[in-house]
Amino acid sequence: MAGDIRHFLDISDFSAAELRAILDRSQAMKSARKGWPKGAVEQGAPLKGRVLAMIFQQPSTRTRVSFEVAMRQLGGEVLVISANDMQLGRGETIADTARVLSRYVDGIMIRAKQHDHLLELAEHASIPVINGLTNKSHPCQVMADIMTFEEHRGSIDRHAVAWVGDGNNVATSWIHAMTKLGGELRLGCPTELAPDPDAVAWARREGGKVKVTTSAEEAVKDVSCVLADVWVSMHDTDAAARHNMLKPYQVNDALMRQARPDALFMHCLPAHRGEEVTAQVMDGPQSVVFDEAENRLHIQKSILLRCLGTE
Ligand code: CP
Ligand code: NVA
Repeated sequence: MAGDIRHFLDISDFSAAELRAILDRSQAMKSARKGWPKGAVEQGAPLKGRVLAMIFQQPSTRTRVSFEVAMRQLGGEVLVISANDMQLGRGETIADTARVLSRYVDGIMIRAKQHDHLLELAEHASIPVINGLTNKSHPCQVMADIMTFEEHRGSIDRHAVAWVGDGNNVATSWIHAMTKLGGELRLGCPTELAPDPDAVAWARREGGKVKVTTSAEEAVKDVSCVLADVWVSMHDTDAAARHNMLKPYQVNDALMRQARPDALFMHCLPAHRGEEVTAQVMDGPQSVVFDEAENRLHIQKSILLRCLGTE
Protein backbone atom coordinates (compact mmCIF):
# COMPACT_ATOMS: atom_id res chain seq x y z
CA MET A 1 0.00 0.00 0.00
CA ALA A 2 1.22 3.50 -0.85
CA GLY A 3 2.38 5.94 1.86
CA ASP A 4 4.08 5.44 5.21
CA ILE A 5 0.95 5.44 7.35
CA ARG A 6 -0.68 2.04 7.51
CA HIS A 7 -4.33 2.91 6.99
CA PHE A 8 -6.98 0.24 6.42
CA LEU A 9 -9.45 2.04 4.16
CA ASP A 10 -10.47 -0.47 1.51
CA ILE A 11 -9.60 -4.03 0.50
CA SER A 12 -8.83 -2.76 -3.01
CA ASP A 13 -5.80 -0.86 -1.60
CA PHE A 14 -3.98 -4.11 -0.72
CA SER A 15 -2.23 -6.84 -2.64
CA ALA A 16 -3.45 -10.43 -2.44
CA ALA A 17 -0.31 -11.29 -0.44
CA GLU A 18 -1.02 -8.56 2.13
CA LEU A 19 -4.63 -9.71 2.49
CA ARG A 20 -3.48 -13.33 2.86
CA ALA A 21 -1.03 -12.30 5.59
CA ILE A 22 -3.85 -10.59 7.53
CA LEU A 23 -6.10 -13.65 7.12
CA ASP A 24 -3.37 -16.12 8.10
CA ARG A 25 -2.37 -14.24 11.26
CA SER A 26 -6.00 -13.91 12.27
CA GLN A 27 -6.57 -17.65 11.94
CA ALA A 28 -3.35 -18.45 13.81
CA MET A 29 -4.26 -16.15 16.72
CA LYS A 30 -7.80 -17.53 16.85
CA SER A 31 -6.54 -21.14 17.02
CA ALA A 32 -3.88 -20.33 19.62
CA ARG A 33 -6.29 -18.82 22.14
CA LYS A 34 -8.98 -21.56 22.06
CA GLY A 35 -10.37 -21.95 25.60
CA TRP A 36 -8.85 -18.71 26.90
CA PRO A 37 -11.11 -16.23 28.71
CA LYS A 38 -12.29 -13.43 26.40
CA GLY A 39 -10.32 -10.81 28.30
CA ALA A 40 -7.01 -12.69 28.31
CA VAL A 41 -4.22 -10.59 26.77
CA GLU A 42 -2.13 -12.06 23.93
CA GLN A 43 1.43 -13.16 24.69
CA GLY A 44 3.70 -10.10 24.88
CA ALA A 45 0.73 -7.66 24.82
CA PRO A 46 1.74 -6.48 21.32
CA LEU A 47 -0.24 -3.22 21.42
CA LYS A 48 0.61 -2.32 25.03
CA GLY A 49 0.73 1.45 25.39
CA ARG A 50 -1.28 2.06 22.18
CA VAL A 51 -4.62 3.87 22.20
CA LEU A 52 -7.28 3.52 19.49
CA ALA A 53 -10.02 6.18 19.19
CA MET A 54 -13.28 4.93 17.71
CA ILE A 55 -15.61 7.52 16.20
CA PHE A 56 -19.20 6.53 15.45
CA GLN A 57 -21.36 8.66 13.17
CA GLN A 58 -23.78 5.70 12.98
CA PRO A 59 -24.85 3.04 15.51
CA SER A 60 -23.02 -0.26 15.92
CA THR A 61 -23.03 -3.42 18.02
CA ARG A 62 -20.46 -5.75 16.43
CA THR A 63 -17.92 -3.21 15.20
CA ARG A 64 -17.87 -1.35 18.48
CA VAL A 65 -17.62 -4.36 20.77
CA SER A 66 -15.27 -6.44 18.60
CA PHE A 67 -12.78 -3.58 18.12
CA GLU A 68 -12.87 -2.79 21.84
CA VAL A 69 -12.27 -6.41 22.88
CA ALA A 70 -9.65 -6.78 20.12
CA MET A 71 -7.64 -3.86 21.51
CA ARG A 72 -7.91 -5.25 25.06
CA GLN A 73 -6.73 -8.69 23.93
CA LEU A 74 -3.74 -7.02 22.26
CA GLY A 75 -2.92 -5.13 25.45
CA GLY A 76 -3.96 -1.70 24.11
CA GLU A 77 -6.65 0.78 25.09
CA VAL A 78 -9.67 2.33 23.38
CA LEU A 79 -11.75 5.49 23.50
CA VAL A 80 -15.25 5.31 22.05
CA ILE A 81 -16.68 8.63 20.88
CA SER A 82 -20.07 9.32 19.35
CA ALA A 83 -19.63 11.95 16.63
CA ASN A 84 -22.61 13.80 18.17
CA ASP A 85 -20.60 14.36 21.34
CA MET A 86 -17.66 15.86 19.42
CA GLN A 87 -17.19 19.38 18.07
CA LEU A 88 -17.52 17.69 14.66
CA GLY A 89 -21.27 17.90 15.25
CA ARG A 90 -20.93 21.69 15.69
CA GLY A 91 -18.96 22.30 12.54
CA GLU A 92 -15.30 21.61 13.42
CA THR A 93 -13.74 20.23 10.25
CA ILE A 94 -12.75 16.63 9.77
CA ALA A 95 -9.25 17.79 8.85
CA ASP A 96 -8.81 19.61 12.19
CA THR A 97 -10.31 16.66 14.06
CA ALA A 98 -7.74 14.41 12.36
CA ARG A 99 -4.86 16.74 13.30
CA VAL A 100 -5.99 16.98 16.93
CA LEU A 101 -6.65 13.28 17.47
CA SER A 102 -3.26 12.49 15.93
CA ARG A 103 -1.69 14.28 18.92
CA TYR A 104 -3.55 12.14 21.48
CA VAL A 105 -3.98 8.60 20.16
CA ASP A 106 -2.15 6.04 18.01
CA GLY A 107 -4.96 5.13 15.60
CA ILE A 108 -8.53 5.99 14.64
CA MET A 109 -11.35 3.67 13.66
CA ILE A 110 -14.28 5.55 12.15
CA ARG A 111 -17.79 4.51 11.18
CA ALA A 112 -18.59 7.36 8.80
CA LYS A 113 -21.85 8.42 7.18
CA GLN A 114 -19.97 9.40 4.04
CA HIS A 115 -16.95 7.70 2.54
CA ASP A 116 -15.45 11.16 1.82
CA HIS A 117 -15.27 11.76 5.58
CA LEU A 118 -13.14 8.64 5.98
CA LEU A 119 -10.81 9.73 3.16
CA GLU A 120 -10.51 13.26 4.53
CA LEU A 121 -9.71 11.95 8.00
CA ALA A 122 -7.02 9.68 6.57
CA GLU A 123 -5.58 12.47 4.45
CA HIS A 124 -5.08 14.78 7.44
CA ALA A 125 -4.21 12.26 10.17
CA SER A 126 -0.59 11.41 10.92
CA ILE A 127 -1.73 8.07 12.44
CA PRO A 128 -3.45 5.03 10.86
CA VAL A 129 -7.17 5.27 10.09
CA ILE A 130 -9.38 2.18 9.84
CA ASN A 131 -12.69 2.02 7.95
CA GLY A 132 -15.39 0.68 10.30
CA LEU A 133 -18.08 1.03 7.57
CA THR A 134 -19.07 3.90 5.31
CA ASN A 135 -21.93 4.32 2.84
CA LYS A 136 -19.52 2.88 0.22
CA SER A 137 -17.72 -0.04 1.85
CA HIS A 138 -17.21 -2.27 4.89
CA PRO A 139 -13.80 -3.88 4.49
CA CYS A 140 -13.34 -5.27 8.04
CA GLN A 141 -16.65 -7.11 7.69
CA VAL A 142 -15.72 -8.73 4.40
CA MET A 143 -12.28 -9.78 5.68
CA ALA A 144 -14.17 -11.57 8.51
CA ASP A 145 -16.54 -13.06 5.91
CA ILE A 146 -13.68 -14.45 3.83
CA MET A 147 -12.07 -15.89 6.96
CA THR A 148 -15.38 -17.55 7.86
CA PHE A 149 -15.95 -18.98 4.41
CA GLU A 150 -12.43 -20.42 4.29
CA GLU A 151 -12.75 -21.99 7.77
CA HIS A 152 -15.72 -23.95 6.48
CA ARG A 153 -14.90 -24.57 2.81
CA GLY A 154 -11.21 -23.87 2.15
CA SER A 155 -9.59 -21.34 -0.16
CA ILE A 156 -12.18 -19.04 -1.70
CA ASP A 157 -10.42 -18.91 -5.06
CA ARG A 158 -11.84 -22.33 -5.89
CA HIS A 159 -15.44 -21.25 -5.32
CA ALA A 160 -18.31 -19.14 -6.66
CA VAL A 161 -20.37 -17.11 -4.18
CA ALA A 162 -23.53 -15.04 -4.69
CA TRP A 163 -24.60 -11.70 -3.28
CA VAL A 164 -28.40 -11.29 -3.34
CA GLY A 165 -30.35 -8.05 -2.80
CA ASP A 166 -29.08 -4.48 -2.48
CA GLY A 167 -25.74 -3.85 -4.22
CA ASN A 168 -24.61 -1.89 -1.17
CA ASN A 169 -21.48 -1.04 0.84
CA VAL A 170 -20.84 -4.65 1.92
CA ALA A 171 -21.32 -5.81 -1.69
CA THR A 172 -18.64 -3.35 -2.80
CA SER A 173 -16.13 -4.78 -0.33
CA TRP A 174 -17.01 -8.26 -1.61
CA ILE A 175 -16.26 -7.06 -5.15
CA HIS A 176 -12.89 -5.79 -3.91
CA ALA A 177 -12.09 -8.99 -1.99
CA MET A 178 -13.02 -11.48 -4.71
CA THR A 179 -11.14 -9.50 -7.33
CA LYS A 180 -8.00 -9.53 -5.17
CA LEU A 181 -8.26 -13.09 -3.86
CA GLY A 182 -9.77 -14.89 -6.87
CA GLY A 183 -12.96 -16.91 -7.08
CA GLU A 184 -16.21 -15.90 -8.72
CA LEU A 185 -18.70 -13.39 -7.35
CA ARG A 186 -22.21 -13.17 -8.79
CA LEU A 187 -24.40 -10.29 -7.70
CA GLY A 188 -28.17 -10.64 -8.15
CA CYS A 189 -29.61 -7.16 -7.58
CA PRO A 190 -32.54 -5.11 -8.90
CA THR A 191 -31.50 -2.64 -11.62
CA GLU A 192 -32.21 0.33 -9.34
CA LEU A 193 -29.98 -1.11 -6.60
CA ALA A 194 -27.18 -2.46 -8.78
CA PRO A 195 -23.68 -2.58 -7.25
CA ASP A 196 -21.43 0.48 -7.46
CA PRO A 197 -20.54 0.80 -11.18
CA ASP A 198 -17.08 2.14 -10.31
CA ALA A 199 -16.34 -0.97 -8.23
CA VAL A 200 -17.61 -3.25 -11.00
CA ALA A 201 -15.57 -1.38 -13.64
CA TRP A 202 -12.48 -1.60 -11.39
CA ALA A 203 -13.04 -5.36 -10.95
CA ARG A 204 -13.28 -5.84 -14.72
CA ARG A 205 -10.06 -3.86 -15.28
CA GLU A 206 -8.29 -5.97 -12.64
CA GLY A 207 -9.49 -9.23 -14.24
CA GLY A 208 -11.92 -10.11 -11.43
CA LYS A 209 -14.60 -12.75 -12.03
CA VAL A 210 -17.50 -10.49 -11.05
CA LYS A 211 -20.88 -10.95 -12.74
CA VAL A 212 -23.96 -8.77 -12.26
CA THR A 213 -27.51 -9.98 -12.97
CA THR A 214 -30.99 -8.89 -11.94
CA SER A 215 -31.98 -12.50 -11.23
CA ALA A 216 -31.45 -13.91 -7.72
CA GLU A 217 -31.95 -17.45 -9.09
CA GLU A 218 -29.30 -16.97 -11.78
CA ALA A 219 -26.87 -15.53 -9.23
CA VAL A 220 -27.13 -18.41 -6.75
CA LYS A 221 -27.10 -21.29 -9.25
CA ASP A 222 -24.62 -23.88 -7.90
CA VAL A 223 -22.70 -21.40 -5.72
CA SER A 224 -20.89 -22.40 -2.51
CA CYS A 225 -22.24 -19.49 -0.48
CA VAL A 226 -25.25 -17.16 -0.55
CA LEU A 227 -24.75 -13.71 0.98
CA ALA A 228 -27.46 -11.28 2.04
CA ASP A 229 -27.73 -7.97 3.88
CA VAL A 230 -30.47 -5.66 5.11
CA TRP A 231 -32.80 -4.06 2.57
CA VAL A 232 -32.42 -0.64 4.18
CA SER A 233 -28.91 0.39 5.19
CA MET A 234 -28.23 3.02 7.85
CA HIS A 235 -27.70 5.78 5.30
CA ASP A 236 -30.78 4.92 3.19
CA THR A 237 -33.95 7.01 3.32
CA ASP A 238 -36.28 5.28 0.82
CA ALA A 239 -37.37 2.32 2.99
CA ALA A 240 -40.80 1.66 1.42
CA ALA A 241 -39.50 1.67 -2.16
CA ARG A 242 -36.64 -0.65 -1.19
CA HIS A 243 -38.98 -3.16 0.45
CA ASN A 244 -40.99 -3.34 -2.79
CA MET A 245 -37.93 -3.67 -5.02
CA LEU A 246 -36.21 -6.26 -2.83
CA LYS A 247 -39.06 -8.63 -1.99
CA PRO A 248 -38.21 -10.95 -4.91
CA TYR A 249 -34.64 -11.18 -3.57
CA GLN A 250 -35.47 -12.76 -0.21
CA VAL A 251 -33.16 -15.66 0.68
CA ASN A 252 -35.50 -18.55 1.50
CA ASP A 253 -35.40 -22.34 1.25
CA ALA A 254 -36.46 -22.30 -2.41
CA LEU A 255 -33.59 -19.96 -3.33
CA MET A 256 -31.06 -21.91 -1.23
CA ARG A 257 -32.04 -25.08 -3.12
CA GLN A 258 -30.70 -23.49 -6.33
CA ALA A 259 -27.24 -23.27 -4.75
CA ARG A 260 -24.96 -26.24 -4.03
CA PRO A 261 -26.50 -28.62 -1.45
CA ASP A 262 -23.67 -27.76 0.97
CA ALA A 263 -23.86 -23.99 0.31
CA LEU A 264 -23.30 -21.71 3.28
CA PHE A 265 -25.53 -18.76 4.15
CA MET A 266 -23.78 -15.60 5.38
CA HIS A 267 -25.08 -12.23 6.57
CA CYS A 268 -23.06 -9.45 8.20
CA LEU A 269 -25.89 -8.77 10.73
CA PRO A 270 -28.02 -7.17 11.99
CA ALA A 271 -30.60 -9.26 10.11
CA HIS A 272 -34.34 -8.90 9.65
CA ARG A 273 -35.94 -12.34 9.61
CA GLY A 274 -38.91 -12.36 7.23
CA GLU A 275 -37.37 -9.63 5.06
CA GLU A 276 -34.02 -10.30 3.34
CA VAL A 277 -33.84 -13.82 4.83
CA THR A 278 -36.36 -16.24 6.30
CA ALA A 279 -35.94 -17.49 9.87
CA GLN A 280 -35.58 -21.03 8.45
CA VAL A 281 -32.45 -20.08 6.50
CA MET A 282 -31.02 -17.65 9.05
CA ASP A 283 -31.36 -20.18 11.89
CA GLY A 284 -30.91 -23.29 9.74
CA PRO A 285 -27.96 -25.67 9.34
CA GLN A 286 -26.38 -23.83 6.38
CA SER A 287 -26.13 -20.53 8.25
CA VAL A 288 -22.73 -19.48 9.66
CA VAL A 289 -23.75 -15.95 10.61
CA PHE A 290 -22.54 -16.12 14.21
CA ASP A 291 -19.16 -17.52 13.16
CA GLU A 292 -18.96 -14.47 10.92
CA ALA A 293 -19.78 -12.17 13.83
CA GLU A 294 -17.12 -13.88 16.00
CA ASN A 295 -14.52 -13.53 13.27
CA ARG A 296 -14.88 -9.75 13.29
CA LEU A 297 -12.90 -9.92 16.54
CA HIS A 298 -10.16 -12.18 15.19
CA ILE A 299 -9.66 -10.44 11.85
CA GLN A 300 -9.63 -6.99 13.43
CA LYS A 301 -6.86 -8.04 15.80
CA SER A 302 -4.81 -8.88 12.76
CA ILE A 303 -5.76 -5.60 11.04
CA LEU A 304 -4.90 -3.65 14.22
CA LEU A 305 -1.49 -5.34 14.41
CA ARG A 306 -0.86 -4.42 10.78
CA CYS A 307 -1.90 -0.79 11.31
CA LEU A 308 -0.60 -0.09 14.83
CA GLY A 309 1.99 -2.82 15.41
CA THR A 310 5.72 -2.16 15.49
CA GLU A 311 6.92 -4.80 13.00
N1 CP B 1 -21.91 -6.04 10.85
C1 CP B 1 -21.71 -4.89 11.51
O1 CP B 1 -20.88 -4.07 11.15
O2 CP B 1 -22.49 -4.75 12.62
P1 CP B 1 -22.64 -3.46 13.52
O3 CP B 1 -23.42 -2.44 12.73
O4 CP B 1 -23.40 -3.92 14.72
O5 CP B 1 -21.28 -2.93 13.87
N1 NVA C 1 -25.38 -2.42 4.74
C1 NVA C 1 -25.58 -2.28 6.16
C2 NVA C 1 -24.52 -3.00 6.90
C3 NVA C 1 -24.65 -2.95 8.40
C4 NVA C 1 -23.50 -3.62 9.11
C5 NVA C 1 -25.61 -0.81 6.54
O1 NVA C 1 -24.80 -0.04 5.99
O2 NVA C 1 -26.45 -0.41 7.35
